[in-house]
Amino acid sequence: MEKAVITFDNTQRTFHLRNETISYLMSIEEGEILSHLYFGKRMTGYHGSRHYPRYERGLSPNLAGRPGEVDRFYSKDVLPQEFAGNQTGDFRSPAIIIKSADGALATDFRYDSYEIFSGKPELEGLPQTYVKQDDEAQTLAIKLKDKTLKASVVLYYTIYADRSVVTRSTRVFNESECSFSIEKVASLQLDMPKQAMEVISFPGSQFHERQVERAPLRQGITEFSSRRGASSHHMNPFVVAVDPNTTEQTREAIGVQLVYSGNHQFTFEKDYIDQVRLVIGINEDGFSWQLAPEKSFQSPEAILVYSDKGLNGMSQTYHHLLRERVARGNHQYQDRPIVINNWEATYFDFSAKKIEAILDEAASLGIEMFVLDDGWFGQRDDDRRSLGDWYEYTSKLASGGGLRGLAEKVHAKNMAFGLWFEPEMISENSDLYRQHPDYAIHIPNRPMSLSRDQYVLDFSRPEVVENIYEQMTAILDRVPIDYIKWDMNRHMTEVYSTVLNSEQQGEVAHRYILGVYDLVDRLTKRYPDILFEGCSSGGGRFDAGMLYYFPQTWTSDSTDAAERIRIQYGTTFGYPVSSMTAHVAAVPNPQTQRITSLQTRGDVASSGVFGYELDVQQMSTEEKELVKQQVAFYKEHRHLIQYGDFYRLKDPFLSNEAAWEFVSPNGNDVLVYHFRLLASSQQNFTITKLVGLIPEGIYVDQETGEKFTGDELMNIGRYDDPTQAGDFTSQVRTYFLED
Ligand code: GLA
Repeated sequence: MEKAVITFDNTQRTFHLRNETISYLMSIEEGEILSHLYFGKRMTGYHGSRHYPRYERGLSPNLAGRPGEVDRFYSKDVLPQEFAGNQTGDFRSPAIIIKSADGALATDFRYDSYEIFSGKPELEGLPQTYVKQDDEAQTLAIKLKDKTLKASVVLYYTIYADRSVVTRSTRVFNESECSFSIEKVASLQLDMPKQAMEVISFPGSQFHERQVERAPLRQGITEFSSRRGASSHHMNPFVVAVDPNTTEQTREAIGVQLVYSGNHQFTFEKDYIDQVRLVIGINEDGFSWQLAPEKSFQSPEAILVYSDKGLNGMSQTYHHLLRERVARGNHQYQDRPIVINNWEATYFDFSAKKIEAILDEAASLGIEMFVLDDGWFGQRDDDRRSLGDWYEYTSKLASGGGLRGLAEKVHAKNMAFGLWFEPEMISENSDLYRQHPDYAIHIPNRPMSLSRDQYVLDFSRPEVVENIYEQMTAILDRVPIDYIKWDMNRHMTEVYSTVLNSEQQGEVAHRYILGVYDLVDRLTKRYPDILFEGCSSGGGRFDAGMLYYFPQTWTSDSTDAAERIRIQYGTTFGYPVSSMTAHVAAVPNPQTQRITSLQTRGDVASSGVFGYELDVQQMSTEEKELVKQQVAFYKEHRHLIQYGDFYRLKDPFLSNEAAWEFVSPNGNDVLVYHFRLLASSQQNFTITKLVGLIPEGIYVDQETGEKFTGDELMNIGRYDDPTQAGDFTSQVRTYFLED
């Protein structure tokens, strides 16, 4: 038997997608309405237990028809559905709104046909999960039609064989003779029966990305969204629905992520009988898409994960999927180098001499890659100028032979060389703006809002994307570059494109993201050896969309170890450790002025893709010794950290501690990090219990030589070191299984 199976039961008219862990069930109901039955733990079979009760409800409309001939006990207003229409009897949040030529906004898509095939079709121009072989997954494509509109939608459901994952997306087709306007189209709708439910979301801000919030749903609409033109720091495109009793290790969790880096919308609606609808996709606010006859529109993809092993189970499914079937390219499984980045060491104020001094010191500490951050191009002496001018600021690095000279010096030290770009932006004070002021997104005759003194380039225009592509390839073809930090430091205002007609202005934000995807796709293909790291004023575009092109992302502009504990903890709910970069910074920390020990800073940063972001020359001899040890430790354990199984053990949002653990897939090697947040004059003795070990295995503490059985470490646990003084202390324990 194949491991991922999709069947259609002709008698019951039900679809069943299942693998060894999960089942997804839907049925074609009266009136050819595609109704949702179930998503959760695998069912061996289905015999109609979720048949929706018939019941007359006032003010919930029935189907269209002649009075007396229509079933008053049947209403779309309460029926769980797969793709709800608008203004046609269901007052809850619709999955699709189409404005037809006459201005009407009603939609009502009914079942037409289906197809099942092995593998997964490619979504053109969009990031997505993929398969390497067709037997890894099966796909169901269900066609629904709105006969009045002469439109159809195809709902795609892909179930992976060995993962608790269903991916979904929607394609809309215009089969009429006139254009219509898509005002909203969901990537996924998931209707759930009345049940106790809490929702976990990941809100934040610059310096405080992916904070963890968990709250019960109230009746009405709860929305998690971005209208910033980016997935944003402010609300990550990811939510989790849980039972109020779900813990890290136990009970059920359903995660939903959107593989998209632009405006998103996650709408939960608890209806008047406490059923829950979740609709996610491109944010309908500000969005519309003119669809000409015979044309189609493809939505971004959503990733649905089910876990009956708590939040950790869900996170591990995302970690594996995003690492193995979203990330691509030569660096996908490669150990990532230890970085030194000059940003917090010099900001814009550097010279060849200064940079080379940092480089020499970093090389002697065993650091593997030097990254030259902002300030190397145009006339970039501060953040008010030169974005858009991607040619070398020759006088700045002249004495060292320019960028090429620097790259050669870095390589001569056996280190890799990386460079910062912010390709999607334009400064008013730039040659590009002087030549092409219309390249900046703006509304003619309306003042343009500034942010960080810069504007966003109109990447909805292919010629603008082309201009930046040409400029970047000119540098990349000339200078041997191993890594690019791809930054994006403002959000979209006055959203308009001067080359689109008035009816198409609602397309700008999405076309912009398609332009970004096009550029990064071409660059990553042309330079497959370059390691790309995404960044957006820190972790403002930490989403599965960017991970399709860039295997790692700068997690946050907060380099404060105390703040990073929470940011990184929150990030691991949805994203793999191999994607999460983390650097040791100087103290007092540039953002918070907080002082934490170098040990704690090292332990926080070495829990991700590791590096340093400070002036190593300013460090004392003892500090440099410790840095050498940290670098050696990371080199020894990085494969386990970047690619091992990650478990959250203690929650820094709910307690005075944080703890997490890395375990090798065979269970042999274990790293446990424990952090105590605030010190107390009457210190508690805390215990950390591990998970994921071999119960009967004997584990040896690599520092003390003490031996423990796996079940002892998991069920009894060990005391954390109570002797460390001060706030934000850390302890790392390493265990190897005895031979
Ligand atoms: C953003 C990034 C930083 C740094 C600066 C440079 O804020 O997140 O890491 O690169 O830009 O201007």
